[in-house]
Amino acid sequence: MVNIGIIGMGRIGKVHTESILTGIKSACVLAAADPFMTEETAEWAKSSGIENVYDDYRKIINDKRIDAVLICSSTDTHTPVSLEAINAGKHVFCEKPIDHDLDKINEVINALKNSPCKYQVGFNRRFDHNFRAVKRAVDEGKIGDVHIVKITSRDPEPPPPAYIKYPAAFFWI
Ligand SMILES: NC(=O)c1ccc[n+]([C@@H]2O[C@H](COP(=O)([O-])OP(=O)(O)OC[C@H]3O[C@@H](n4cnc5c(N)ncnc54)[C@H](O)[C@@H]3O)[C@@H](O)[C@H]2O)c1
Repeated sequence: MVNIGIIGMGRIGKVHTESILTGIKSACVLAAADPFMTEETAEWAKSSGIENVYDDYRKIINDKRIDAVLICSSTDTHTPVSLEAINAGKHVFCEKPIDHDLDKINEVINALKNSPCKYQVGFNRRFDHNFRAVKRAVDEGKIGDVHIVKITSRDPEPPPPAYIKYPAAFFWI
């Protein structure tokens, strides 16, 4: 059994939590943390069997029972939380992007160099056949020397109006 802690219980944090709870029998969500967790989310988490609901993610990082964390908090927290999690020996699934700053991304890559931790970035199109075709074309030299990749994709439906108030909406696309 892999014990998991969810860091960030906003929109995507709940999606991943639900997927694990309903679809992965070999994993257990032991804890969830979010400093601004709504009462509704906290109740949902507890009623879904998540024993520990915190406002401080460090309680997850410091919990020796937890093998892996999902970093689903706002983008500006991804690098610092990743570094703390790797230092604590946790496997990490981190929502995209790791950061907007290449130096910070490299800090995370360097921290993984001598670490046994697995680290995956959540990218919803990773297994999309169209994206794989583009990647293959690049690998085969059919595109030429790639400098910038611009991707536009859309959700199947618009987010709720309340979501648009907050900046994370801009990171959704
Ligand atoms: N891979 C994808 O397709 C995909 C889809 C959606 C979002 N994302 C990424 O996931 C991240 C979150 O997006 P969202 O749509 O869920 O945003 P959201 O605003 O709904 O949720 C973010 C949550 O993080 C919490 N948070 C902030 N600081 C925290 C901290 N220090 N510790 C714990 N929790 C903290 C906030 O309180 C909020 O509840 C963004 O980086 C976004 O780019 C990726």
